[in-house]
Amino acid sequence: MHLSDMFFFLAFICECLGPTQKMNLFQSVTSALDNTLASDPTAVIFGEDVAFGGVFRCTVGLRDKYGKDRVFNTPLCEQGIVGFGIGVAVAGATAIAEIQFADYIYPAFDQIVNEAAKYRYRSGNLFDCGNLTIRAPWGCVGHGSLYHSQSPEAFFAHCPGIKVVIPRGPVQAKGLLLSCISDKNPCIFFEPKILYRAAVEQVPVEPYTIPLSQAEVLQEGSDVTLVAWGTQIHVMREVANMAQEKLGVSCEVIDLQTILPWDTETVCKSVVKTGRLLISHEAPITGGFAAEISSTVQEECFLNLEAPISRVCGYDTPFPHIFEPFYIPDKWKCLEAIKRMINY
Ligand SMILES: *[C@@H]1O[C@H](CO)[C@@H](O)[C@H](O)[C@H]1NC(C)=O
Repeated sequence: MHLSDMFFFLAFICECLGPTQKMNLFQSVTSALDNTLASDPTAVIFGEDVAFGGVFRCTVGLRDKYGKDRVFNTPLCEQGIVGFGIGVAVAGATAIAEIQFADYIYPAFDQIVNEAAKYRYRSGNLFDCGNLTIRAPWGCVGHGSLYHSQSPEAFFAHCPGIKVVIPRGPVQAKGLLLSCISDKNPCIFFEPKILYRAAVEQVPVEPYTIPLSQAEVLQEGSDVTLVAWGTQIHVMREVANMAQEKLGVSCEVIDLQTILPWDTETVCKSVVKTGRLLISHEAPITGGFAAEISSTVQEECFLNLEAPISRVCGYDTPFPHIFEPFYIPDKWKCLEAIKRMINY
């Protein structure tokens, strides 16, 4: 999709969906949750501190509006939060769980990968917990250090039976979260926490959905394909401008949006055209999701590749505190990778 097309698309969804309001990302999440609680009487929201609005204010006002039986705090036990959510969803309600930081999702790992993801399969489709959505703030924030900066999407991308989704801004956050909530599979929705208050967009007040497993081409180009998601997509857009200005290189920028199951078609179609691919994420490089994309693309597009596929990612270390600026895959590292690919 061209940039002008994107404005058209935004204008289009806004026109179709009636009034819009200025919202940042956390407010667009609140709006999606508000729409869900209003239209689905079975919907409940639970997690640590959600009743008073949550650390990042995503559930502000919802307990007062819908009552303490529908928006409530849980004990500090992630395994319990997700286990409870599975039960709520299996019993026929819409369960929306919040894990306070993605870094704290690991105690719930067993519940997610061994129970939620397998529930439908092991019951021969008799039961499912597809109405479970797990939200968690994700990614670096400038000062989060090792327990408030992680991007654990690759751990969950290894797990058939769930979906993993990451938005890049307010309009996408609301549409994709509503898609996760109505999807028939358990979904993990990672919210880039550095973007919660970063930008304001005109977001439709009414509910709307953005399809899962569809990447979005944000900018068309002919020399290099840049793939990212969440916060990193904004770095890629800046890198695309720098590559054009400094190197005369034309980049195509793709926001993957859904990590599992991901949109191989859009990415491969682009690489067939450009012959070069750079994938970038904050998570450590080894076993990161870029490795999966790289492997698929070399299988599908081998004869079209003009240079080895590049990954610019976090280092294989715990997420650092004062060294965050050195750790993250910033625009300079990405630009260097583009230069290497072009000169290959
Ligand atoms: C999930 O929610 C949908 C829509 O509210 C409902 O039709 C469906 O029965 C629910 N699934 C389960 C397993 O209860």
